[in-house]
Amino acid sequence: MSTQIIRPARTLQGSLTVPGDKSISHRYAMLAGLAEGTTRLSNFSTGADPHSSLACMQALGATVVKTGSGPAATIEVTGVAGVFRQPSIPLDCGNSGSTMRMLSGLIAPHPHTFTLIGDHSLTLRPMERIRKPLSEMGARLDLVDGHAPITIHGGPLRAIDFTTPIPSAQVKTAVLFAGLQAEGVTSLSEAIRTRDHSEHALKAFGAKLTRSSARGEGHETKLSIAGGQKLKAIDATVPGDISSAAFFLSAALLFPDSNLVLDSLGMNPTRAALLDVITALGGRIKVLSVEELHGELIGSIQVNRAPSAASTQPFVISGALTAQVIDELPVLAAIAPYTANGLIIRDAQELRIKESDRIAIVAKNLRAMGAELTENPDGLEIPGNQQLHGAKIDSGADHRIAMAFSIAALRASGETEIEGAQAAAISFPEFFTSLEALAKR
Ligand code: S3P
Repeated sequence: MSTQIIRPARTLQGSLTVPGDKSISHRYAMLAGLAEGTTRLSNFSTGADPHSSLACMQALGATVVKTGSGPAATIEVTGVAGVFRQPSIPLDCGNSGSTMRMLSGLIAPHPHTFTLIGDHSLTLRPMERIRKPLSEMGARLDLVDGHAPITIHGGPLRAIDFTTPIPSAQVKTAVLFAGLQAEGVTSLSEAIRTRDHSEHALKAFGAKLTRSSARGEGHETKLSIAGGQKLKAIDATVPGDISSAAFFLSAALLFPDSNLVLDSLGMNPTRAALLDVITALGGRIKVLSVEELHGELIGSIQVNRAPSAASTQPFVISGALTAQVIDELPVLAAIAPYTANGLIIRDAQELRIKESDRIAIVAKNLRAMGAELTENPDGLEIPGNQQLHGAKIDSGADHRIAMAFSIAALRASGETEIEGAQAAAISFPEFFTSLEALAKR
C-alpha cells in the first residue's frame, strides 16, 4: 500500500488535459468489441477500470492493439462481428462496477456460460439490479447472495419494457446492450435521467435508438431499441473525463488567485451539472470553446474563484442533481468546509454502495482533519468557513476518496498522509503528477 504526502499549497494555476472519460471509454471498448471491423480510439482512459473492459473483450474474442504511449496512444479494437466466443477464463472486471454490470447485458444474448469476477470491493456491490431485467429477458444469472461472482447462462433474449427502479446508467446500459441483440423492441424508462453516453455510443456505432420525454409525472425519459441490429467500427476520440477534472475544479475554489484552464474536456449535459455546482460554491467558469464528437460535447474551460460568494445559504445537492454529480460528491464534500456557506448533500444513499461507503469514509476523514459535520443515512451536512488540519487519511482503497482528500489537503495546515494513494490509478493514474504541476507552494 503506498502513502502519498500532500503539503499545503499557496494557489493552483496552470492548464491541464485530463485523460479520456472512463464512462465513455468502457462503452466504446465494449461496443467496438461486438462490432464488425477495427475501431480506432484516441485519448482512451488511462485508468485501470476501462482496461478491465478491454481485457474482457479480448477474452471474448476481440483483438486489442495499443500503439504509442501517453496522450498520443491509440487503442485499436477489432470486434467479433456480433459473435462472442465462449471465454476460456473468467471475465475479470477488477474494481469496475461499470464493466461487470454493462458487460452482463452485452454478453447475456450469447449462447455460452460466462463467469464474471472482481476484486474484494466489487464483490461487495449489489448485482441484483442487473439480474432482474436480464432474467426477465430470458437469461439466467446466478449470483452469490446478490453479489459477484456472477454466472451467466446466456442465449436468445426477448425484448422487455423496463422501468429502472433506481437512477443507474449502468443498469440502463445493461438493458440497452441486451435489447440491441434481443428479439423485438426493448423499452426502458427512467424517472431521473442518468448519463446518456450509451445512447450516443450506440448511435455512433450505427444502431438506431429513439428517446421520448413524457412531460408530467417525474419527467420520465423512455428509450426504445430494436433487436437484431449490427454495429460497425468507428474512429473516435474520447473526451477528457469531467469526473477527473472535478478534483482540480474543486481545488480552484480554494484559493483567491487560482486560475485553471482545462482542454478537451467532456461537457455532455448529463455530466456538466458539476459546472453549475462549482459556480454555486464560489467558482467562476468561462467556456472558451465547445464542439461535438459522436454526440458528445467537448470543450475548453477556464476556472477561477469568484471575488465573493454567490449566496449566504449552504448549497443543497438533492434529487436529480445528486444523480448527476454522484461521482463528484466525495471531492465536493471534502472541500465543503472551506466554502463560505457549506454544503448539504441529500438523496445520495447510492454513495454507500460505491467502491466504498463514500458517505461514511468522507465523514471519517473530514473529522480526522478537524471538520464539524453531520452524517445522515442519505448524505452529509457540512458547515462552511472551517479551517482543517493535516491528518492521516484512509482511502478505503477507493480512488475517488484518495484524490478528494489530496485536494482537501491543499488548504489544510500541516501535511496530510493519504494511505492507499495508489487507488487513484483506477481512474486517473496521472493524478499526483498533475497535482504537483498545478499546486504552487
Ligand atoms: C457510471 C454510472 C454511475 C457512476 C459510475 C459510472 C457509468 O453508476 O457512479 O462511476 O459509467 O454508467 P450507477 O449506474 O451505479 O449510478
